[in-house]
Formats: sequence, C-alpha cells, structure tokens
Amino acid sequence: MSNSIAQEVAKRRTFAIISHPDAGKTTITERLLLMGQAINVAGTVKSRKSDRHATSDWMAMEKQRGISVSTSVMQFPYREHMINLLDTPGHEDFSEDTYRTLTAVDSALMVLDGGKGVEPRTIALMDVCRLRDTPIVSFINKLDRDIRDPIELLDEIEAVLNIRAAPITWPIGCYRDFKGVYHLKDDCIIVYAAGHGHERTEQRRIQNLDSDEAREHLDDLYDNFLEELELVQGACHEFDQDAFLKGELTPVFFGTALGNFGVDQVLDAVVDWAPAPLARASHERVIEPTEEPFTGFVFKIQANMDPRHRDRIAFMRICSGQYQKGMKLHHVRTGKELRIPDALTFFAAEREHLEEAWAGDIIGLHNHGTIQIGDTFSEGEKIGFTGIPHFAPELFQRVRLKDPLKSKQLRQGLQELAEEGATQVFFPERNNDIILGAVGVLQFDVVASRLQDEYKVECLYEPINVWSARWVSSDNAKKLDEFKNKAMENLAIDGGGHLTYLAPTRVNLNLTAERWPDIRFSATREHH
Ligand code: G4P
Repeated sequence: MSNSIAQEVAKRRTFAIISHPDAGKTTITERLLLMGQAINVAGTVKSRKSDRHATSDWMAMEKQRGISVSTSVMQFPYREHMINLLDTPGHEDFSEDTYRTLTAVDSALMVLDGGKGVEPRTIALMDVCRLRDTPIVSFINKLDRDIRDPIELLDEIEAVLNIRAAPITWPIGCYRDFKGVYHLKDDCIIVYAAGHGHERTEQRRIQNLDSDEAREHLDDLYDNFLEELELVQGACHEFDQDAFLKGELTPVFFGTALGNFGVDQVLDAVVDWAPAPLARASHERVIEPTEEPFTGFVFKIQANMDPRHRDRIAFMRICSGQYQKGMKLHHVRTGKELRIPDALTFFAAEREHLEEAWAGDIIGLHNHGTIQIGDTFSEGEKIGFTGIPHFAPELFQRVRLKDPLKSKQLRQGLQELAEEGATQVFFPERNNDIILGAVGVLQFDVVASRLQDEYKVECLYEPINVWSARWVSSDNAKKLDEFKNKAMENLAIDGGGHLTYLAPTRVNLNLTAERWPDIRFSATREHH
C-alpha cells in the first residue's frame, strides 16, 4: 500500500445532502462552498434556482450547457481535507439519479426544516441510505423562524426514521429570541448574530453556561433553558461514534443556513466523524480504497450535452487507487480498454480538466453511449461493484406511438434510455403495452423529449393504474411458475429482462405478498 494513497484517502470526505424540498439544501450547499472558499459571496449557486421552478435543471441545461453538470458534484478543500459534495436533485428534477447518488457517498447530511420536521422525501431518502447503513449527520434548519419543540423534533426523527438522535448542540430560543446554540459537550454557547448570512465571520463564543456572561446573554431565557437542558441531557442519547458509523445514531445540530449559523459545525462533524472513503463490495471481493490499482463505478449519466452527438458524461466514483490524466482503464462489462485523456473534476461552479484524483473523488468521463450506469472500471481486474441498484418506480405512464411504423425505433430508444438510467421500461405479459416507470415526474419529460429529438419518435403518454413495481424472484421454481400463471394480469418484464410485479395499489401488493410467502418482492434491483 502506497503511503500517499493512504494519506490522500484519509483526507477525503464524500457526502450528499438529503432533505425534503425547501428545507434549505441549496442554501446550505452555498454556505458550505463559502466555507470551502469555493465561492466568495453566497448567491452564486442560488441564482440558478430561479430557473429551476420554471424549467428544471435538465431543461435549463439545454440553454446553459455545463452548469447543471458541474453543480452535480462540488469539490472543495476544508481544514486540510478534500470535500466531495454530491448534489441530490430535489423538486421537479428529482429522479432515480437522486437515489443512486446516495450509493456513491460515504455519509449524508440530513437537513430538516425546524418548522416542519421529518417530511416524506426525507423518509424516502433515508430508506435509501439505510441500504448501506450510511452514517447520517443531521441539521435542523431555520432557527431564525418559529420552529417546533426541539425535543419533539428529535422524538420524531427517532420514531419515524428509526435512528437514535444525539443532540450535539441545543438551540437557545428561536425566531426573534434565537440567541445561538449551546454545545453540550464543550459547555460553550455559540452566539447567533443576525445579518452575517452571506460571508465568513468569526463567531462569539461564551465558555461555561454558569458564567455571568452566559447569564447575561440568555437573560430571561436562562432559567427555562437550564430546565430544558436538564430534560434533554436526561432523555437524549449521547453521541457514540461506532453507532454513528453503523448508521444507527445521528448527531443533531441546530442553526440557520440562511443566517450562515451552525453550518460550520456540521461540516466539522463531517470532517471529524464521518468516514473517509470506505471499502466497497464487489461480486468478487471487497476492495479497499487504499489499494494501488484504480477501480471505480458509474452511478450517474448525464446525457444530451449535445443531442446530435449523443454526448454524455458518466459520473464515476473512484473506489480505489489514483486516476492520472491519460491513463488507460479497463471497462469490465465490455472487456475493452479505454484511454481517458480528459476526465473532468468539479470545483464549485467550474468544470476543470483533471490531472489526478483519488479514491472517494468523483470524475466525469465523456462518452457516446458506451458507458452504462453500474459499470465498473479497473486496471484489468474483472470485478463488478455491487450496490448500485434500480429503485422501484413510483410513477407510471403508458406510451403509445403516434406512428405505428416506428415501433422498432421506440423499442430501441427506450432500451437505450433505460440502460442509461433515464427511465425504466416494462412490457406487460398480457398485452403489447409499453409502460414507463420513474421516481420523478421530470424523467417522463426527459424521455419524451429525447425520444423525439434523438430517435425521431412521437408518442402519446397516458396515465395508467399502477401504484408501484416489485422485482419478483423465488428459490422455489414450482411456486414461481404457479405465481406466474396466477398473477399474469399484473406481471411484466422490465428493460433488463427481469420479471416484475406491477401492483395497482399498496393494498394489492401487501395482500399478494402475504398470499405468496415463497416469492420475494424486491423494491430494488442490482444492475447486471
Ligand atoms: P431546497 O434547496 O432544500 O429546496 O431549499 P432552499 O435552500 O432553496 O431553501 C428554501 C427556502 O427556505 C428559500 O426561501 C430559502 O431562502 C429559505 N431558507 C433556507 N434556509 C433558511 C433559514 O435558515 N431560515 C429561513 N428563514 N429561511 C431559510 P424561498 O423564499 O423559497 O427562496 P428565495 O426567494 O429566498 O430564494
């Protein structure tokens, strides 16, 4: 093991933010970039958001090529470390990519709106993190507003997300009375001062809650705060590094992203507690990040940079070793060698050509459709990384061709778009329908527009009565055959040739699963 690989790996933290739309992910991202000196004034990333409501990242990319891609991954230095922050698209551009991005990180930052608590998208994203027991740091945001009782918020995290919550800081008041946070272990108040949301500032700290300065600062909140603190210290979990690393316990911080307060503590927690790039399982063996030979896998493909040339960028997470400009990589699925002269790295809003990168980093590879999601690259070893799944779609549409003679083009287009991860496609057993599945609505728009532009097929898209899909398997071949006969109505084959159950309702799915105990109904499926 080379020493410099070990040093570079130890410096890296690769994480994503998980949150419900409007909880403050964009605002926090900006404050993080500010801290990493990647931008000087907050507002740079945000400006793209005005576009986002009207159009979407993807549509906007048509106009403003590159911006969207570069903001998918942001790399910046912080405290002698190199931070890779992966964007998990929210709002309209929420898609399977959002889920898959979480398979490429070593930890996640969960952001909750203090006024709202745990919301549906938070739950869905946490479910994905749980597939790999990803360590979660939590930030309760918007303390400059009226928030819910913090104890109740922690209870909700524990009950709904099924993870122990350990407060590291505790808020002193909120809204107009927000005076800062108390660091439970350090016995120190970090004082909130409004009006510094857009710049890096030194924060005032008051050591010792017992001090005159602390009493003076808390003023008439003091006695109540002591009482509350006693309750918190009695009832809440203490931080436990092992439990955190196993994804069983989350350290919780409070603050306001807009006021740029508390975000630095969160980033410190990521640096101090979150894991450096972890070992990854492949079908063949476990690969350590410090192994000399390069390995990596593709978790996301951003297509249509130039529709006429079918130009794409594949986002690869490096799992071991070092990338060096111009190196040759072995594309395990095709068995071909690819020379990579121009991988991209992502520094804030700029795309830069890259000289070298290490395990934990994300690099972008140009290609013309040769690279698929889930593909593994190595320096020759025939391995395939696991844990880059398809996720059961939640939205479905039936596709109908306007021109029936274009059926071949449609099938080919859908096959390729499915391989790329833009959508999922299902062919029911009982008829010739073609059904598209997605987790975000925008995926349908993307597919419609790409089918038209790239494959010259126009289609009609109709609503269809499917609630969710489950991949079907069984160790009992006889039972599986029996099931196939009985459940024919709801069975389909997906783009990868796998048997799938399309459930019209949640109740139907539950009943079916109960009735067929020998059949597995999986909400995720591995690539390949
Ligand atoms: P998202 O990416 O998770 O969707 O959230 P985003 O950061 O865009 O924040 C959603 C809204 O919440 C924004 O307001 C943002 O300014 C606001 N916000 C974020 N953090 C805080 C905070 O700590 N305190 C308060 N009071 N508000 C916060 P908006 O009106 O929707 O957008 P904009 O007009 O400010 O851009």
